[in-house]
Amino acid sequence: MRWIEVDNYEQMSEQAAAVVINLVKEKPEAVIGLATGGTPAGTYKRLVDDYKQNTTSYENIKTVNLDEYVGLEKNSDQSYTYYMDQHLFDHINLKRENIHLPKAETPPYEQDAKDYEQLIEDLGGVDLQVLGIGENGHIGFNEPGTPFSSKTGVVELDPSTREANARYFENKDDVPTHAISMGISTIMKSKKIILLASGAKKAPILYNLFKTDVTEDIPASILKEHPDVTIIADSEALALLKEKEGSVNR
Ligand code: F6R
Repeated sequence: MRWIEVDNYEQMSEQAAAVVINLVKEKPEAVIGLATGGTPAGTYKRLVDDYKQNTTSYENIKTVNLDEYVGLEKNSDQSYTYYMDQHLFDHINLKRENIHLPKAETPPYEQDAKDYEQLIEDLGGVDLQVLGIGENGHIGFNEPGTPFSSKTGVVELDPSTREANARYFENKDDVPTHAISMGISTIMKSKKIILLASGAKKAPILYNLFKTDVTEDIPASILKEHPDVTIIADSEALALLKEKEGSVNR
């Protein structure tokens, strides 16, 4: 696990976008795993800017998103489908048929989850997975206690996750209780992973992640067993870690 410290959100987004763009150039038919939320929005903005300025082509790129809320309509402006369209997909030349998110709109959700796992396998696996991290250490929506062997499935959101994501909803009770999420074993099969973190709210979990042994209590800790993970985090997110451990650039 490689740790990279950057000054701020802008630099984090810049570096993450550079990793994606390099892959797109090196492997124009790559499969890229994507996250939603506040963290990667700046990365997507830079991908869009780069597409406009440099015409980096996504014509043969395939994407698979980590997760989608259960029971929301795809065109609901809180769905991750909507988020991805707004932030990225509507602005680059990615083909619609190459964009994948878990269905999750109507039952049968369990079957949709199984199909999604199969789809990722059929695509040949994920070349680069972009991850955020929950304040409780979740990756995707795999909450603390999720077995590391988990595959894509229907998951229940932790009350703290619903609380953290309530900012995107009019009413906090509107936050869905469940999602379909790539499993931890699914994420671990990605060839390369970048985990992004920004802001003071992520400081405690990054410190805990740095210090902990691999444990299902902190889902992201499994990434220590992956051969190619880079954490790109800004100074605020690394403040506690640096205060207690010194520099993280290594
Ligand atoms: C989103 C996802 C989540 C988020 C995490 C951090 O697709 O899978 O794991 O990455 O909850 O969210 P933000 O970036 O909003 O702090």
